[in-house]
Amino acid sequence: MSEQKRQVATAALAYVEEDAVLGVGTGSTVNCFIDALASSSKRIEAAVSSSEESTRRLRDAGIDVIELNAAGSIPVYIDGADEADEHLRLIKGGGAALTREKIIAAASTSFVCIVDESKLVRTLGAFPLPVEVIPMARSYVARKLVGLGGQPIYREGVVTDNGNEIIDVHNLDITDPVTLERDINMIAGVVTNGLFAHRPADILLVATDAGVQTKRR
Ligand code: 5RP
Repeated sequence: MSEQKRQVATAALAYVEEDAVLGVGTGSTVNCFIDALASSSKRIEAAVSSSEESTRRLRDAGIDVIELNAAGSIPVYIDGADEADEHLRLIKGGGAALTREKIIAAASTSFVCIVDESKLVRTLGAFPLPVEVIPMARSYVARKLVGLGGQPIYREGVVTDNGNEIIDVHNLDITDPVTLERDINMIAGVVTNGLFAHRPADILLVATDAGVQTKRR
């Protein structure tokens, strides 16, 4: 598994635009990507990072990190996922960075998602859907999520980089991810949810035992 993460992280280097700002996600696959970028000959202008953890790793690797507000346009965003379907729609947020990830994905021209083959699914939803909530709204949002057919579990002890909390929603029917993404985001107190269906990946790199496969929308 970790060898596959290294493989797909290395394959993502081909999508890095030199002398441009690069969007960088969060997670163990992205950590492999940061290592690969740092030891490559690719030179970027700076990175925009989706988490304090990735920011620290990038800076430790000698890569400049700037605020999104200072970045202008971002040609490429590279990030992992917890699940991906054949339409390149994703579940993200296992690392609690979903809100900043969704913002940077939205602000980027091309979203390159890097996964190992264990993340590929026919239908999204075996992985519990992370939802970032304003703390005072947690119980209210949980009741609304039950109304949508899910079983919400509070991710205890986790505070996001934005000072909020995470609810993981089990057993949702995600046959229409675009509608569900919108419906959950309509609940007062929800910051965002981990469905990336409205803005899916543009390119999905999948590490398999036979090499890295490339899927495009
Ligand atoms: C963090 C994320 C990650 O991309 C997702 O959890 C995948 O992580 P990993 O590469 O460690 O499997 O969405 O919020």
